[in-house]
Amino acid sequence: MAGNWKMYKTAKDTRAYFAKFLPLVNGVADREIVLCPPFPNLEAAVSEAQGSQVKIGAQNLYWGKEGAVTGEVSGPMIHAVGCTHVIIAHSERREYFNESEEDVTRKTKAALEAQLNPIVCVGERLGERESGQTERVLREQFQGGIGPLAPEEFAQIVIAYEPVWAIGTGKTATPEIAEEAHRMIREEARRRFGEDAAAKVRILYGGSVKPENVKSLMAKEEIDGVLVGGASLDPQSFAAIVNF
Ligand code: PGA
Repeated sequence: MAGNWKMYKTAKDTRAYFAKFLPLVNGVADREIVLCPPFPNLEAAVSEAQGSQVKIGAQNLYWGKEGAVTGEVSGPMIHAVGCTHVIIAHSERREYFNESEEDVTRKTKAALEAQLNPIVCVGERLGERESGQTERVLREQFQGGIGPLAPEEFAQIVIAYEPVWAIGTGKTATPEIAEEAHRMIREEARRRFGEDAAAKVRILYGGSVKPENVKSLMAKEEIDGVLVGGASLDPQSFAAIVNF
């Protein structure tokens, strides 16, 4: 159950959030909880989450370890703060920062090298869905970005299926639509990495997940978890999602 705060909250807000959130998820042992605040709040989040089962992730990384790359943050830096996860190629990164499938591969490898668990995002745009290209897009994203990973690298990633038309729009994919897309992704995984790896890889659904719809999404066998944007900003609503 992962939350992506995007470009919201300060370090002070982060502390206030954890004070409310942690008691609400205390004792939840059968699911992994990850929160991904903006870079300047990672340290506060890691310190607040200490001793709890909540893990902290970043929302992006650069693939180099260090260097003259103004404005970027590397995997080892994120790991050094105490993060365990990093989101890669969120659709907003693909859209506003032109991240390519090549970036996906480079960033995923860099994250693993820095001992971070990558949450790699894929998903089609509205126009692509409406023109019947969902399957092609998902297969191309998989083959282009994830396919080049080594099998032992693939075994360590989490995939997030986030249809762009469902992100922040209030339009959730129906559990059936999400399930169908997850199946396509898993089939690509089977083709490239084999039966066992495909069965084991966790695929999260993301796009307008709310306390009201999480249960029906999680009821689908293909859906292993959720990546939550807007509804993760409120501690009560994210706790309700975690505790679905
Ligand atoms: P949303 O965002 O839950 O606000 O739709 C999901 C995401 O972009 O990860």
